[in-house]
Amino acid sequence: MSKRLKNVTSPLWGTALITGGTSGIGLAFARALARRGCALVLVARSQERLEKTASELRSTGVTVETLAADLGTEAGVTAVAERLHDQSSPIEVFVNNAGQGLYHELATTDTQPLEDAINLMGTTVVRLGAIAAAAMKARGHGVIINTASVSALVPMGLYSGIKAMVRTWSVSLGIEVKPAGVHVMTFMPGWVRTEFHKRAGVERSNVPDFIWLQPADVVRDCLDDVDAGKVYSVPSVRFKVISAVAAHAPKEWVWAISAKINKGRRG
Ligand SMILES: NC(=O)c1ccc[n+]([C@@H]2O[C@H](COP(=O)([O-])OP(=O)(O)OC[C@H]3O[C@@H](n4cnc5c(N)ncnc54)[C@H](OP(=O)(O)O)[C@@H]3O)[C@@H](O)[C@H]2O)c1
Repeated sequence: MSKRLKNVTSPLWGTALITGGTSGIGLAFARALARRGCALVLVARSQERLEKTASELRSTGVTVETLAADLGTEAGVTAVAERLHDQSSPIEVFVNNAGQGLYHELATTDTQPLEDAINLMGTTVVRLGAIAAAAMKARGHGVIINTASVSALVPMGLYSGIKAMVRTWSVSLGIEVKPAGVHVMTFMPGWVRTEFHKRAGVERSNVPDFIWLQPADVVRDCLDDVDAGKVYSVPSVRFKVISAVAAHAPKEWVWAISAKINKGRRG
């Protein structure tokens, strides 16, 4: 199937590059953008899962490239940066999404997991966002979706701290490049049922079942918000309410509730 042609009603067209496109939220973006007719470039570490995902999507008639890269390494970031920068085969939609859970004590002599998390979900996200934005600015159009989290609004460890940085940086990037025609979406999902928590060895028991969201639903809301010209997306009414409470309730309450949830989540 040919790449989606420029659409006057949506900025989501052309080729979309998705980091973490083989599981959870990234996979939901891949499926949704494929349905909208975008060609795809999927980035993740596991070549096997990349091939499996690409073959599922190709069977629906979509063009899919795969790029196996560990975004915690210099070589991996360089490979993806080169693809984002390649103006001969432009990336019109960049979903800056790959990440991992982190539930590590902050008072520790073992700081490597903390540094690795800052690298993957902080430094890499900013570097790739910068490269994509520069390439899109030069062309005068493009969409960047940065996956932050509602945890950016509460104190739940370094993960929250990194996502708070991503949130503020993403909004700033959007303000900077909007006049050049580039749309930056700051995406703020709540708890979503993916492999994320299991991979991080986290129990879900402290979080009631009804709170959890599905990847396809949060991604649909995010893309609808992009189409509506919005630059900040908190999917679902329940997390819109939780976000408003986190932002406006007395800080001591928010901190106490956050600490309780965080304590019960360690595996
Ligand atoms: N799930 C939630 O409740 C939730 C809520 C808010 C925000 N988020 C954010 O959403 C994003 C996606 O999370 P998810 O829930 O969809 O998790 P997931 O199901 O575990 O998927 C993570 C994806 O990222 C890839 N990935 C992980 N580490 C990588 C690395 N070093 N280099 C390249 N790719 C890597 C994984 O593939 P490989 O393992 O093959 O590399 C996989 O495709 C993350 O930024 C997360 O912080 C999640």
